[in-house]
Amino acid sequence: MSEYATGPGFGVRRGSSTDFDAVSALYTAVAAEGRWIGGEAPVEWTTQRKEAWCRTADEEDRGAWFLAEDDAGRPLGYLALFRSGTEHAEFAMAVAAAHRGRGVGGAVLDAAVDWCRAAPVSKVTCQVWPHNGGALGLYLSRGFVVEGRLRRHWRRRNGELWDAVVMGLVLDRHSPGSGLPDADLLR
Ligand SMILES: CC(C)(COP(=O)(O)OP(=O)(O)OC[C@H]1O[C@@H](n2cnc3c(N)ncnc32)[C@H](O)[C@@H]1OP(=O)(O)O)[C@@H](O)C(=O)NCCC(=O)NCCS
Repeated sequence: MSEYATGPGFGVRRGSSTDFDAVSALYTAVAAEGRWIGGEAPVEWTTQRKEAWCRTADEEDRGAWFLAEDDAGRPLGYLALFRSGTEHAEFAMAVAAAHRGRGVGGAVLDAAVDWCRAAPVSKVTCQVWPHNGGALGLYLSRGFVVEGRLRRHWRRRNGELWDAVVMGLVLDRHSPGSGLPDADLLR
């Protein structure tokens, strides 16, 4: 079954739009926890939003999905990669609450980063809530670094404005950067 890494009792494979029900069910369950991902309950999957997500699963220039499943084929976690051409790709991921802390998230992220290297994608980024120690720990363990903090950036349904931490993993270390010096104001 597994195209990528396996762990104790699970495997990771590429997903496609035929996995939409599994991915949206995981997303909806984690959104209902209210504190880890951007989505909030009740999640509304409009036709337009569903189609946009599915395109990122099926069209490699738009992205890719990765799914962790147990040995009986039950979905445990997903990672959805949203790609901007050959440049950066941003991702969203979640593991079902009952299956966290046993290597599933790490295996799914490793599969996605391997895919990005081969694509090639020059950089992988994500946004994390500053209170999400589990996600920060996972990303730091895979070499991501904190690139900044977007302050009062995302409106929650209760009216609060939450900060987001931007994390990045540079894959292309060979292309030259800008030769222009930073403005004095940034020094
Ligand atoms: C964040 C999440 C995806 C991690 O998945 P997971 O399956 O629990 O993580 P793993 O067991 O694979 O752990 C992977 C690494 O993260 C680290 N990690 C996991 N939880 C951690 C925590 N609470 N604090 C610090 N580090 C942690 C582990 O040390 C591990 O490192 P290792 O592989 O070097 O041992 C999962 O907890 C989750 O789905 N949370 C809710 C949704 C969410 O937060 N999504 C991400 C939004 S940005």
